[in-house]
Amino acid sequence: MLYRSAISRQACFANRAFSAQRFASTKSLRDTLKEIIPAKQEQLKKLKAEHGDTVVGEVKVENIIGGMRGLKAMLWEASVLDPVEGIRFHGLSIPDCQKVLPAAPGGKEIIPESMLWLLLTGQVPSAEQTLALSQELAAKGALPKFVEDLVDSFPRTLHPMTQLGMGVAALNHDSAFQAAYERGMKKPEYWVHTLEDCIDLIARLPALAARIYRNVYAPGTPLAPVDGSLDLVGNYANMLGYGENHSLTEYLRLYIALHGDHEGGNASAHAAHLVGSTLADPYLSYSAALFALAGPLHGLANQEVLRWQMAMQAELGADITEEKIEAYLWKTLKSGQVVPGYGHGVLRNPDPRFIALQEFCDGKPELKASPIIQLVNQTFKVAPGVLKAHGKTKNPYPNVDATSGCVLYHYGLTEFKYYTVIFGVSRALGALTQLVWARALGLPLERPKSMSMDALSKFIADSK
Ligand SMILES: CC(C)(COP(=O)(O)OP(=O)(O)OC[C@H]1O[C@@H](n2cnc3c(N)ncnc32)[C@H](O)[C@@H]1OP(=O)(O)O)[C@@H](O)C(=O)NCCC(=O)NCCS
Repeated sequence: MLYRSAISRQACFANRAFSAQRFASTKSLRDTLKEIIPAKQEQLKKLKAEHGDTVVGEVKVENIIGGMRGLKAMLWEASVLDPVEGIRFHGLSIPDCQKVLPAAPGGKEIIPESMLWLLLTGQVPSAEQTLALSQELAAKGALPKFVEDLVDSFPRTLHPMTQLGMGVAALNHDSAFQAAYERGMKKPEYWVHTLEDCIDLIARLPALAARIYRNVYAPGTPLAPVDGSLDLVGNYANMLGYGENHSLTEYLRLYIALHGDHEGGNASAHAAHLVGSTLADPYLSYSAALFALAGPLHGLANQEVLRWQMAMQAELGADITEEKIEAYLWKTLKSGQVVPGYGHGVLRNPDPRFIALQEFCDGKPELKASPIIQLVNQTFKVAPGVLKAHGKTKNPYPNVDATSGCVLYHYGLTEFKYYTVIFGVSRALGALTQLVWARALGLPLERPKSMSMDALSKFIADSK
């Protein structure tokens, strides 16, 4: 049995009563999309015509000066983030996805190909569809020679995220969307060529990301070619040099699948959406997302958590008690730093992605015994209470990054600066899905109105 059996998935599916989701068959990804896009276009047309002037919320001055936090102002199809429940992908929670989405050959965790299919179509793929997508991605996974040469020319000291963003931008040399646009394609064709670029880009990300890893951390060592018999993450792990480590490969599958999308307003997803709205091709759009991800308030948190937990470990020594952790947490807060891995812009509960990664750790004796993972668990027992007592953060609970880097570290992937690159491989699933839908729905150029402080003050005075 290559993938989880369709029967067991169907049973889970029925139990979870996801009746609105249609169970998919052997139909190709393109045919599936062709079938569902007209209904979505119709839905949008109706919304616009019948409810275009319905008020959804109000804009306060604090929204304008506060990073537009919480403003409902963009359309995003693939996922919705509930502050308490966490992320849902087309209505499916993370535990739902873990029950119904196919796993990789010989594995148990969600395979990112099945998550990509779900994000793109809103349907749970069959084992055959997942396998076909895996095979297509592997067949398209090799980098063009000029991109290899470009990446090889970067200094080792250039940050891996800068290298990733530049490599992705350079891949637009082969953009199907750009070529078709130059030929004068019609609007209904936009999504077709966007999809081709998105699939090609997702296929090539592992080879690009692994080449950067090799060049920065193990220059001169051989790099495995893309293997047509492996799935996306199987290839990625193999090219990173961890192909024999099945636990790490499974962890990467789970992490990359779960981290693939987190609504549209986060900085990386929004950057891709904004740049894509200019009809820039998916490579340019996603490179913008990667540069947003490279910021310390966004994608760097997992490396910060690891750094902080290791400093705690070094200071507290062998006999680590909850009292000592509590004192260390207060020390961190009193020195004016944030507790990394805790808090969230939207979530107000423990992040279900954190819980899923914890469960993964619980199922692996080597992770349960790992001192750094034990420290993550002990910290989880103490930190919410301390953060509540501190009284500042709106969410005293862990986010996904509270544990993600520590698992990579345990398995030997110890190069902190590289962790955001793995996040970048993952986030492509959601950001590129939305580009396809933005083109299918004919969404316009994004152009919010900005205001100066003087204009705001005048508005306030006039409205009194
Ligand atoms: C994620 C994060 C940036 C969200 O920021 P936010 O939306 O502004 O969060 P809040 O509205 O809860 O912030 C309110 C206050 O609590 C503070 N706060 C938030 N999370 C905190 C944390 N983990 N430790 C200490 N203080 C925290 C904020 O700095 C802010 O303080 P201020 O009023 O002095 O500026 C923030 O929680 C954070 O910095 N967490 C640590 C880094 C991290 O884990 N990032 C990964 C996110 S997936």
